Amino acid sequence: MLKLGVNIDHVATIREARYHGKPAGEPDPVEAALVCEGAGAHGITVHLREDRRHIQDRDVIRLREVIKTRLNLEMANAPEIVGIALKVKPDIVCLVPERRQELTTEGGLDAAGQTAALTETRKKMNGAGIDVSLFIDPDARQVEASAAVGAQFIELHTGAFGERFHDEEERSVEVARLVVAARQAHHLGLKVNAGHGLNYENVSALGSVPHLVELNIGHSIVSRAVVVGLGQAVREMLQLLQRFP
Ligand code: PXP
Repeated sequence: MLKLGVNIDHVATIREARYHGKPAGEPDPVEAALVCEGAGAHGITVHLREDRRHIQDRDVIRLREVIKTRLNLEMANAPEIVGIALKVKPDIVCLVPERRQELTTEGGLDAAGQTAALTETRKKMNGAGIDVSLFIDPDARQVEASAAVGAQFIELHTGAFGERFHDEEERSVEVARLVVAARQAHHLGLKVNAGHGLNYENVSALGSVPHLVELNIGHSIVSRAVVVGLGQAVREMLQLLQRFP
């Protein structure tokens, strides 16, 4: 079955809105992660941003201690964060581009332009028993570069798909790009995840994208949780994923 990684950054966003700079506060992302696991999520994803705007170092440390599924740490390829990852040892890291001004991760990683630096980090992570994924746009050059880096996974950026979902013609162009990139990645021996901008309305349109292992979904699940509760929000998304081939 297609797996679901729940990105719980926005649980921490709510906490930081009130308790930024304090050693604790509610809601607790760790408690949220346990609810997601209890509802059947296959993994927990967090992004430790350099500006610490939502997830804090202590969250990552606690998550590593308590979650029983799989911890996916999204991170910039920055020395400080690389050092933390090597200490905490998540199951997998997903290297993402990061800009301080952005609201959320806006584009894919330029793997083709940073092959040497990414390979160096990939080797360090793999040496510590951590798998590496690269968050890239569905672009042939970037897929090829990800294989050259030696990553185990790519995560295809579905942001453009999400934005163009309501225009049928544009949606099919975006789905076709994802299909081609997923095929190419599989052919090169890469495992394929996808994420960003996915929600209860658009996710099923990814049913034709082959070789998908896992979707990482955050904002829509945390938003739905406000209305129906987090466990129910996760279960509803899992039901949609069960219909995938
Ligand atoms: N995957 C990656 C690499 C991301 O950076 C994000 C956003 O933090 C997500 C998935 C989840 O995106 P969303 O919150 O739009 O579901």
